[in-house]
This record gives sequence, C-alpha cells and structure tokens, in this order.
Amino acid sequence: MARLDHTETFHGISFPGHLHTQDSLQFALKFRFQDTDILVVSYPKSGTTWMQEIVTLISSGGEPLLSQTVPNWTRAPWLEQYYAAAMLEASSIRPRVITTHLPHHLLGPALQGSKARVIYVSRNPKDVVVSFYHFHNMANFLPKADSFPEFLNRFLESTLHFGSWFDHIKGWTCQGAALNLLHITYEQMSMDLRGTIERVSSFLQRPLLEEELTNCVKHCSFSSMKDNKMINYTLVPNEIMDHSKGTFMRKGQIGDWRNMFTEEQNQYFHSVFASKMQDCPLQFVWEKPEGEESHT
Ligand code: A3P
Repeated sequence: MARLDHTETFHGISFPGHLHTQDSLQFALKFRFQDTDILVVSYPKSGTTWMQEIVTLISSGGEPLLSQTVPNWTRAPWLEQYYAAAMLEASSIRPRVITTHLPHHLLGPALQGSKARVIYVSRNPKDVVVSFYHFHNMANFLPKADSFPEFLNRFLESTLHFGSWFDHIKGWTCQGAALNLLHITYEQMSMDLRGTIERVSSFLQRPLLEEELTNCVKHCSFSSMKDNKMINYTLVPNEIMDHSKGTFMRKGQIGDWRNMFTEEQNQYFHSVFASKMQDCPLQFVWEKPEGEESHT
C-alpha cells in the first residue's frame, strides 16, 4: 500500500492515506475490546512510541527480547491503520497492546462498558507541534510542511492531519472519565522515568521486581531506543520516511519549542490555548523545575 499522497478524510479529520482507509477507520470504531486489552492513546508526537516501549517492557518483566526483535507497529499496532485487523487476528499474545491516535468522540463508544486499560499520553503542545513539524519533513506520507509559522497556524486552527490537539486531550481526559484510564505525560516520563514506569506497572497490575524495573528504565532510555531498529523507524524504506531529512528519535527533550517559537508566536499560542482550553480543568506541568515549575 503506497498511497503516499492520498489523504483519507473520516468524520471531518484528515488521515494519511498511506496507512488508513475508510474500512480500516470503520474497523476501529466497531472494534470489540477485551477486558485484558491495553490501549495506548495519544495525539501524534506526544510520546506514543515511548509508552509502547514501556508497556512492552513491563509486560516482559524488563526483558528486552520482544522489543528488540519485533517492530513496535507489530507488537502494539495502531487500531485504525489498514494492517491492524489481520495483525490482531493473527496474534496470540495476551494481553494485547493496541495503539490509537483517534479522538475520544470517535473511539469512545467502542470502549463503553469495557474494562480495557487505557493509557493516555500527552505532551506540551508546543513541543508536540515542533516535533510534528520536523516529522512532516521526513515522513513522505504526510503533506509537505511549508514554513514553521504556517504549520503552527494550522496546528492552532486544528487543520493538520489527525485533527485537533485540543479536542483530543479534552475528549480523552474529560469525557473519558468513565474509562479505566491512566493519564501520563511525556514530561513525567522525562523527569521521572523510573517513577512513571512504577505507576504504569501498578495500573497494569504487573508488579516489577527491583531488577526488572531497572532493566525497563535502561531499555527505554532515549539512547537505547534511538539505537533500537524495532523502534527508531529505520526499518521503514526511504521512499516512505526520508532518513536523510531527519530521525524519528530526534531530540527527545522537554522545551525544544524555545528553539522554534518567536515571542510573538508564543503569545499567540497562549491566547489560543487559553480560549480553547477554558473548559478543561487539567493542570499541566510542562517544564523542568529550573527555578520554578511553569505552566503552559
Ligand atoms: P522529538 O521529535 O521532540 O525528539 P511519538 O512516538 O508520539 O511519535 O513521539 C515521538 C517523540 O517522542 C519524538 O520527540 C521522540 O524523540 C520522542 N521520544 C521517543 N522515545 C523517547 C525517549 N525514550 N526519551 C525521550 N523522548 C523520546
């Protein structure tokens, strides 16, 4: 399936046609979750791959064999992508680890009444948009990103592929209240990886021995993951991801937005954020505590 230039529009949201079809998106909406399923949910570039890795490692007690021999899209497939149906059918691994970028208003109904464990991963949207911008430059299945200011405007207008960041986080964290859901941020993983893995392992009811925990931390560090072909997307051919234009495991830092945003863009971002998030009670800690922890 190439369809690199094709966009699939589904319920008003654009998805890369290289990975999605109307049928595959419909399949996700009608999916029958099992109570043992683990669902990793995120807006793109929020730390999805990192959480897939954490969950894989917790499930295997810190033993890296699976994460070093099976690509992340096979061991934790994206439910809405075209290969997921066949892959999930063929897999006998339990618990199933499934990933999705779909918003709650689309996938929530399929989860209603389910005890599946949902891990929602979010990240400072300023770092999301910067990471997404760089990703657009290397991923040939996404439309070419023009200038950063234009890309930023499209993010704030919610017209990029995968839809609105604002609706995504509000939907999953507010309307998702009835779900068996744990909300983890990229910043928590970054500032306290060990503590975050402990929280996830407790949520999954898969306790870890001290040594297993240490192994999990080791194998999902940025440097380990950057060198792991099963995660760093170097298995994807150049015509699909142009590896001369960037790396998937790019910087892995908090606050890289500072290298891209002008002061004016920052102020504009804050005004849009304040208006779109006024009905959201979440408190965010998005910066390292240099001096003081700051919000947004
Ligand atoms: P950057 O582009 O800012 O480096 P996703 O998996 O949702 O697409 O997110 C990708 C982002 O997560 C990239 O951010 C990538 O570098 C970062 N990432 C992945 N694994 C990481 C890790 N172990 N530590 C820190 N950042 C990680």
